[in-house]
Amino acid sequence: MDRIIIQGNKPLSGTVKISGAKNAVLPVMAATLLAPGEFTIHKVPDLRDTRTMMKLLNMIGADTTFDNGTLTIDSSAANNPEAPYDLVKTMRASFYVLGPLISRFGKVNVSLPGGCAWGPRPVDYHLKGLEQLGAKLNLESGNILAEAEELVGTDIYFEFPSVGATGNIAMAAVRARGTTKLYNCAKEPEITQLCEFLNGMGANIKGIGTDTLVIEGVNELRPADIEIIPDRIEAGTFLIAGALLGEIKVADVKPEHLENVINKLRQTDCEIKATKDTVSIIPPDNIKPVDMTTAVFPGFPTDLQAQWVALMSLANGSSVVTDTVYHDRFSHIPELARLGANIKVENNTAFIRGKKSLVAAPVMSTDIRASASLIIAALAARGKTEISRVYHIDRGYENIEQKFKRLGADIYRKSD
Ligand code: EPZ
Repeated sequence: MDRIIIQGNKPLSGTVKISGAKNAVLPVMAATLLAPGEFTIHKVPDLRDTRTMMKLLNMIGADTTFDNGTLTIDSSAANNPEAPYDLVKTMRASFYVLGPLISRFGKVNVSLPGGCAWGPRPVDYHLKGLEQLGAKLNLESGNILAEAEELVGTDIYFEFPSVGATGNIAMAAVRARGTTKLYNCAKEPEITQLCEFLNGMGANIKGIGTDTLVIEGVNELRPADIEIIPDRIEAGTFLIAGALLGEIKVADVKPEHLENVINKLRQTDCEIKATKDTVSIIPPDNIKPVDMTTAVFPGFPTDLQAQWVALMSLANGSSVVTDTVYHDRFSHIPELARLGANIKVENNTAFIRGKKSLVAAPVMSTDIRASASLIIAALAARGKTEISRVYHIDRGYENIEQKFKRLGADIYRKSD
């Protein structure tokens, strides 16, 4: 298993080019199952998760080729509507094939994702939405068997603006008979891009970017090409690192996807400048403590909560961080405590007392964003930190240590 070794407390500076968004490319890859033919997807990040999704598409029968950021998918030969447990358990986003497969084949056998590093992540909104569209579902030894002679449009209200459920049900509905209205939808940019991609394939979705999607079922869908939007979570991760370690510019980004994060960083006394596709950060001498509560887009993203906690661990005072999207997403905190962070967790809230410095220690990654939080903390800590189980970070960040190295960090990967 690989480890990342960091000699901390070195100033960073320079520009980092941000990769395509993991959480945009995964549903787009699943959507290619909706229509036979060849799709070209540009700006695809080379991640464990994108390669896992390629493996799943190959198991379903689609052909994929990936070269230097360009992914070609030919779904013509797709004929096996299954997603097995040993694959779905490694990547919950595999569940995205449910909607496209039942739409194209009328039946699908997908393993339930099970839990993840920080607790249960149910898929009840996905299943309820499919049933409302007319699918018959059965649970058999951990697999969902879904069948539908025909999917018929209807009104569906999501209890919570779930990113995955909005994407999955939209993909199921684009070829349903009649009109489907989805209420309380996720408005994350990744779902906006998915809906635009579906319309590029010939779907008829209105209300894109709002919390209500109106989908008129169409008979035919066709292949389309797309360029994946920049990863706002990767960009936010580097900006938070800059708030602690030096003047960093993130390039190839959409600042409009980072408004809440930029606003929060300004409250810590960081200076932030944005152009149409870059954001630069100049850190203050001391980081002001700033309370933060995560929320669905356009709120502060839960996928940057762990990174924000790392920043607040070195703020000049106390702060409170609450996660309203996941109530138990704090597996990074015991590891940050090993570096000297002073944090107490009660329910879905972390109470942080900022310290002047952190001190290096061996720590362990537990999930993608917790790993990013540990890298940020280790880069700021005095001494040499070793982070184990970095396969977690490789799921969601492309060449993260090279990117930090180019900014001046003393960081390298050790493979056992
Ligand atoms: C997506 O996960 C992202 N993953 C997550 O990013 C992100 O944290 C999350 O959205 C929230 O923004 C991908 O896009 C691949 P949800 P998803 O459905 O779709 C509850 C990362 O690090 N819920 O919006 O699974 C759920 O438990 C990953 O890149 C139900 O109760 O998230 C959670 O509390 C981690 N029932 C809340 O809704 C359901 O059927 C939001 O989950 C579905 C969700």
